[in-house]
Amino acid sequence: MAGYLSGDTRKVTTHRLMEMKQRGEKISMLTSYDYTVAQIVDGAGVDIILVGDSASNVMAGNATTLPITVDQMIYHGKSVTRGVKRALVVLDMPFGSYQADPYDGVKNAIRMMKESHADSLKLEGGEEVIDTVRRIIGAGIPVMGHLGLTPQSINKFGTYGVRAKDEAEANKLIHDAHLLEEAGCFALVLEKIPAKLAERVASELTIPVIGIGAGSKVDGQVLVVADMLGMTQGFSPRFLRRYADLHTVMTDAIGQYVSDVKSCDFPNESEQY
Ligand code: KIV
Repeated sequence: MAGYLSGDTRKVTTHRLMEMKQRGEKISMLTSYDYTVAQIVDGAGVDIILVGDSASNVMAGNATTLPITVDQMIYHGKSVTRGVKRALVVLDMPFGSYQADPYDGVKNAIRMMKESHADSLKLEGGEEVIDTVRRIIGAGIPVMGHLGLTPQSINKFGTYGVRAKDEAEANKLIHDAHLLEEAGCFALVLEKIPAKLAERVASELTIPVIGIGAGSKVDGQVLVVADMLGMTQGFSPRFLRRYADLHTVMTDAIGQYVSDVKSCDFPNESEQY
């Protein structure tokens, strides 16, 4: 057992994640976008908290991750880092903040680290962004890679379907994974790819490989917190396990509150001054 459950309150570092991979201990990762949820996620023993650009969907209601800005990611990052004591915090670089050229990427990366107090950053893509990844790491910033279904490229893909099913795309993914490791990434997310391919990548790389819809034979798992808690509706990919039905719990509680206010049951004698 890890983290909270074993009483291990030491801060998770990139070095400790590597040790976890080496001894075969699975790594748990969840998203958070605000102080209150981050405190709960951290207190429950999650190893890595991702301030994902999925905030664009989950927090802002956008259809894609594309609209979220550097300023908005910094705001979410700051809120999360204030609530976290143990987990390693990874902040997503949003679409447009690193794709144009390495200089822009490094400037944005430094600003995001300075202002959010996150421990590290995550970028999507392989060979196309490798110079930028090298320079950000060269500036002393730990980088997590992200391959497979990379939602910032949704307009190129056209669907959120499983990636790298054909040999050419699978070979490119393997090549990109090695490039990212050689560039110095401390970990890699693989999203929505065949389990066999993810297993191969995890066995070939020395850095931890964290999967989402990538099967069980990787070094850890990540989910979007609002999805696994059952707050979001109408999103049921095969890889998503719902651990709670907070949508129902919250709707029932709020419905009860409305009814108590209407019936003058709330507040009662002991709930006033
Ligand atoms: O933004 C996000 O939530 C992510 C995870 C799905 C890995 O990148």
